[in-house]
Amino acid sequence: MKRTHTNGELRQSDVNSEVTLVGWVSKKRNFGSIIFIDLRDRYGLTQLVFNEEEIPEANLLKSEYLIEVKGIVEQRQEANDKLETGQIEVKVSELKLINKAKQSPLLIQDKTDALEDTRMKYRYLDLRRPIMQKRLIERAKMTSAMRRFLDNSEFIEIETPMLTKSTPEGAREYLVPSRVHPGEFYALAQSPQIFKQLLMISGFERYYQVARCFRDEDLRADRQLDFTQVDIEVSFLEEEEFQSLIEEMMKEVLASVYQKDLVTPFRRVPFDEALNSYGSDKPDVRFDWKLIDLNKVFVNSEFKVFSDVLETKDGAIKALVIKNGADHTRKEIDSLTDLAKKYGAKGLVTLKYQDNELSGSALKFFSEQEQKDLIETTKVENEDLICIVASDWETTCNSLGALRLHCRDKYELVDKEELAFVWVTDFPMFELNEDSNRLVARHHPFTRPKVDSLEQLSLDPLSVKAYAYDLVLNGFEVAGGSLRIYDAEMQSKIFELIGFTKEQIETRFGFFIDAFNYGTPPHGGIAFGLDRLAMVLTGSDSIRDVIAFPKNASARDPLTNAPTPVGKDVLEELHLEIVDQKNQ
Ligand code: AMO
Repeated sequence: MKRTHTNGELRQSDVNSEVTLVGWVSKKRNFGSIIFIDLRDRYGLTQLVFNEEEIPEANLLKSEYLIEVKGIVEQRQEANDKLETGQIEVKVSELKLINKAKQSPLLIQDKTDALEDTRMKYRYLDLRRPIMQKRLIERAKMTSAMRRFLDNSEFIEIETPMLTKSTPEGAREYLVPSRVHPGEFYALAQSPQIFKQLLMISGFERYYQVARCFRDEDLRADRQLDFTQVDIEVSFLEEEEFQSLIEEMMKEVLASVYQKDLVTPFRRVPFDEALNSYGSDKPDVRFDWKLIDLNKVFVNSEFKVFSDVLETKDGAIKALVIKNGADHTRKEIDSLTDLAKKYGAKGLVTLKYQDNELSGSALKFFSEQEQKDLIETTKVENEDLICIVASDWETTCNSLGALRLHCRDKYELVDKEELAFVWVTDFPMFELNEDSNRLVARHHPFTRPKVDSLEQLSLDPLSVKAYAYDLVLNGFEVAGGSLRIYDAEMQSKIFELIGFTKEQIETRFGFFIDAFNYGTPPHGGIAFGLDRLAMVLTGSDSIRDVIAFPKNASARDPLTNAPTPVGKDVLEELHLEIVDQKNQ
């Protein structure tokens, strides 16, 4: 027997043909002496019909047995509209068992109640589920659409080392001990950043790579330790020219994978506005619910919580109005407060507006004028709930931004089919690391600051913006990039500002800064988090659902059990010794 069709292929026009199919037994039902089996492969399901008297072995078939059948395509008495092959069934005349299967530890269906660790331990079975196949197939189509677009736009795909020297992308890095150089380590690339810039200095002008990146991060639903970037760099393009090229690429992805027409140009939202209005540097703009600035309303406030905040340099009082939220119970308000606190707020002031009157425990601190101004500024309506945070600007924005997203999910405020791309631009060049009280680069230290002179940069670095941009889709940062510094002096200055000594700059980045002295073109680029993009476009809740073999939330792979201890001999060869922390 030789397979003639896949299980997603047969239609009414095939009725009366003799076919041979291969696949896994997905579902089996007995009706007297008639046995129905749904046969599954990567392409779909086909219903098989066996007459037990003619083929008694059919009775022995179980879920996930792999079989080959020959038979005649027949019209179904009642079509199944949910299946592409739902018009027909195959009346089997010959059956061959290719391989038996043990009982599967998880249901091989789109909806499974298996725990995630069970799914990951038996990932090869989990990946048989049609929904998982669909996700990985869509992801592959996205990658090839991007490759196709870039290949057709003069980009050259070039691989760069994974075993390399540390690159300051902001995450902790993985170290790999060198056997031949005792006591020395490679770092696994956090991204190809330095190499792609060197390729611009080499004159390639348009580079891309589907690159594996490694970051020792605390895992979240949209992060992995090893993940994939579609990494891009160009020379001689201005920010908006480059962004429209990327928009064209997204258009190609959406058109070819989902037959969707994306409207371009995407909206551009400067960082300050993103935080001010949406409380996030990755705003979900599918729904409005903007934050409202209350500094003016409370400028003379006698409420100490507010007046203290307004005395600080970047203090901000803002509100989010929860439409029809006046029915929040004490418990629900407590959980909103906890959420705001998780994002750094010291507390949350809530006021209900009912029968044209405000109520709430903080109301006694507000003058009549303030109450009037508050009602006017927030445009609150009856049965709404006003939530107010007072803190430093970023904390105020971020904590109310978290409440905003909470409401999005609670009240189902967005159309799940909608795709809202926005460019978030004009990020600050630096931020202050509270623990070390040192400046760190917000994107990375190769980003070009929006200043004309080095003096201007040194004067008030925290106020300097950068040519940095993120592409945000439905509230997820799916790509990040920037225009780069192409001047050795400016690059050294940035390293200095983020706390490297001259010697450290020389030993860590000397080779890179030196390269700038050989005719460096103006350049810039971006990197897509391919896994994250695939997560959002496939409508998955977790990045793990679009990665064939991911790590779980505690950074383990339940399938192979990695990471695992290694033998003493291996350690010796690598000149390493494990120090038992318990005995220290
Ligand atoms: P950045 O660090 O912003 O920029 O990364 C680019 C994109 O990669 C994705 N990403 C991740 N995805 C999954 N798991 C992770 N741990 C993870 N970390 C990042 C995000 C992010 O937008 N070299 C620069 C790019 C450039 O400047 O060109 C860089 O790596 O979607």
